[in-house]
This record gives sequence, structure tokens and C-alpha cells, in this order.
Amino acid sequence: MDHKHNDAFPNNFLWGSASAAYQIEGGWNEEGKGPSVWDHFTRIPGNTFKGTNGDVAVDHYHHYKEDVALMAEMGLKAYRFSIAWSRIFPDGNGALNEQGIQFYERLIDELLGHEIEPIVTLYHWDLPQALQDQYGGWESRQIIEDFNRYCVTLFERFKDKVKYWVTLNEQNVFIRLGYEEAKHPPGVTDRKRMYEANHIANLANAKAIASFREIVPDGKIGPSFAYGPAYPYSNDPGDVLAAENAEEYLNGWWLDVYCDGEYPKTIWKYLEQRGLSPTLEEGDTALLKSGKPDFLGVNYYQTGTFAESPLNDVFQSSKENHDGKKGQFKESGIAGLFKRKRNNTLETTDWDWEIDPIGLRIGLRRITSRYRLPVMVTENGLGAFDKLEKNNVVQDDYRIDYIRQHIEQLQAAITDGVDLIGYCTWSFTDLLSWLNGYQKRYGFIYVDRDETDEKDLRRVKKKSFDWYRTVIATNGGNL
Ligand code: NOJ
Repeated sequence: MDHKHNDAFPNNFLWGSASAAYQIEGGWNEEGKGPSVWDHFTRIPGNTFKGTNGDVAVDHYHHYKEDVALMAEMGLKAYRFSIAWSRIFPDGNGALNEQGIQFYERLIDELLGHEIEPIVTLYHWDLPQALQDQYGGWESRQIIEDFNRYCVTLFERFKDKVKYWVTLNEQNVFIRLGYEEAKHPPGVTDRKRMYEANHIANLANAKAIASFREIVPDGKIGPSFAYGPAYPYSNDPGDVLAAENAEEYLNGWWLDVYCDGEYPKTIWKYLEQRGLSPTLEEGDTALLKSGKPDFLGVNYYQTGTFAESPLNDVFQSSKENHDGKKGQFKESGIAGLFKRKRNNTLETTDWDWEIDPIGLRIGLRRITSRYRLPVMVTENGLGAFDKLEKNNVVQDDYRIDYIRQHIEQLQAAITDGVDLIGYCTWSFTDLLSWLNGYQKRYGFIYVDRDETDEKDLRRVKKKSFDWYRTVIATNGGNL
């Protein structure tokens, strides 16, 4: 095997892997932690697969040293994880819980001790339930102040240890699933409320970034966005226009605000005509413009393919299949803008997500041309039904193939001129998939548990573990 170092990737390239607090930690009410909206939502019958929740998850709260030791063994350069707001402020905006901060301090020190760069996500969906109850969470402007206080507390505490920060994880997902599709907390289906909550989240994001500039001038910060580049279904100009609409509606609507502090004009107009555009108060645009990111975090899983949709089509939001059954892809669309179609040139995952490595290159190039910012791939990976075989073997060659093909496209994107800082696979260990329990696995490390039985939470290295270790050791040379 040729183990040649690859010069295409910069020498300080952050070969990483990622996770999120609710999906791995467990310890849901330990050492002063307050409940989050996910602690609440998963307890409502019918909301998740077999009623699973993150009470124990993969118990990273107690296994963090073992998990970091495995990262070190792999040679990981960076580890992206999130901080649970309700460990730091159990009531969201009341007294600080020192024990909560100390957990993350121990984790960060453990990482630094192994020369692993921590990448800290400030918000990965687990809003303190107290703020939902007090004032409706993201629907009140009070959250801008409260989120800022929480962020500033962490910036001040960790500014000498943490260089890379992610503000909001997949705002486009938690807002749409939370306020349009009712699949995530707070379980609302109201597009007007969705656009208002989304605008407030934009303001909170910008304010946190503006504070960061003052407190951590040498640090790097940006949001992580679930980016699915839009393709036309055919070369019919109607379909090409539909793809443009989808790109603006599903991506530009967030990315333009992050990067330029302004909403895309065409979609603003479309929403305004329907009474759905958010309320812009005086000072909002200035605040949005004051909080521009250093880099864009991109969570990449798939592209979307779109066809023309006449105005008289029934409005239908995007539907995703959460039960792990194939063949349930549903067409969806936005009246007058686009209709989503299956892309028949692409294969799909066990969860019917279209696999499209070239789409990653296309996406990174689009972001580079439109926003001219450095990019970090903050998530990319394959959710699959893995099988633990005898002798502790998990033969996840399909995951190796998937990640290899995506890394090849990263190299191509860098050659194209994309300023790529790093690549975090999703995920390091197996973890709770919000709605899908533990059957949908993403990790390099198999964790022995399922929905109904926590078993012993044993960590088992999958075949992909050794493979990614060699990728890192050769700087992407040995794929
Ligand atoms: C993106 C989310 O950030 C993460 O929490 C989730 O598990 C993965 N997508 C896979 O769906």
C-alpha cells in the first residue's frame, strides 16, 4: 500500500469527526443540568422511534476519557462537539451551573492533552426547556440576549483553549422541522411563526458573532448549515428556474443573511406577497451585518433535484422518511417555486438519502463563488444499519466507500480554489439519531446498545476506524 503524504490538503488541515451533546452525552439530569426541549419532546409518546430518548444515549458523559483516547489512537486532528446550554444555565438565563462548565473544561483539556483541536458548537438544538416555557424560545426576541449571555460566558471561559466555534447548528433544519413540520420541538406547523422564529435566530446568531469579535479576536467562528445544492430535473428552462428558486429558498434564505446580512430579494418578495415575510425592526439589518462569520460550516449529506411547479400546486413541505424503510421518497414542493423529484442517477442510503459526492464539490464551489469565505465541512457521513459480527467485527466497507468518495471531491474542490479548513465526519461514535433511535449508525466506533436495551455500551472499532486513521496519517494520501 502506498502511504504517500498528500500535498493537495494543507498541512494544518483539520481531519476531524463530530457529535452533538444530546446525541451522545446521557447524564440528562446530572450535576445540575436542567431539562432541554429534547428531554421534553422525546417523552411525548409517538415522537421518536420506539420512544427512544437521550437520557443515557451512549453515556459519553461518563465515557469521555475513553472516547477521547480512541480519538487519539485514530490520530484525529479535530473533534467537533456541542455544549448543552442547560448544563451551563439550567434555567436558560438564571444562575450559572459551575459543574456543567467543568464537564466541558475537562473534555477540552483531555482533547488538548492529546493535541486534538476542539471545535465547539454552541447550539445543537437542545434549547433549555425553561426558555420554551418562559417565552416560547426562538419566538421571542428575549432569546437574543439570553443566547448572547450564554455564549459570552463560554467565550470568556474558553477563549485561551478553543479557537474554532460554531454558533447555530443547522438553523434551516431545526427551524423547518420545529415550526413547519412539527417533527422537532416545539412541534409547530405554522409558516408565519416559522419565518419570525427564524429571523430571531438570525439576530441571535449575529449578536453572538459580534460579541465573539470583541472577546476572542484571534478565534474563528461561523454557523453550520445543512447545505443541499439544488439541481434542475431536466434542461427544460422551467426546471432550471425551479432549481434556482430552490437554491434561493432552501439555501440562500439562510446563507445570504449569515454572509451579507440581507435576505435574497426574490424569496423575500414571494413570502411578502403571501404575508409570510418576517418582521424587520429598526436596527435588525445593522445587527445582521455586524455579525459576519469567519467561515461557513457546511453539513453535507445530499443534493436536491427540482422541477417546475405551477402556482396552483398544493403547498407541501419537504417530507423525510424517519423509519428506515426504503422506497418512501415523497415528492414535495413549494407552490409556484419548485417541486422536488428523485434524482434517478443517484444511489440511496438505507434511509433513502441520495448519495452524491460530486454534489459536495459543486456545493463548496457555489459557496466560494457567492460568499468568498473559507469553508469547514462540519458534518458528512453515512447512516446505515451496521452489524456487530462475532469477534467484535463491523465490516462497514460501504461507509469507507462513501467517505472516500467525498474526500476525493474535497481534494478536487481545493484544487478548484475552495479555501477548505477541515473535514469532520459525522460521527465519531455511534449515537442517538434524534428520531431514529440507535438503528441508524454513523460512527467509526460501534456502541453496543439498541433502543430497548442499553447493554454495556461497549465501544468497538469498526473497519472504517483503521481506514480513517491511515487517511489522516497520510493527509488524505491513502484513500
Ligand atoms: C445533521 C445534524 O446536525 C445531526 O445532529 C444529525 O444526526 C445528522 N444530520 C444526521 O441526520
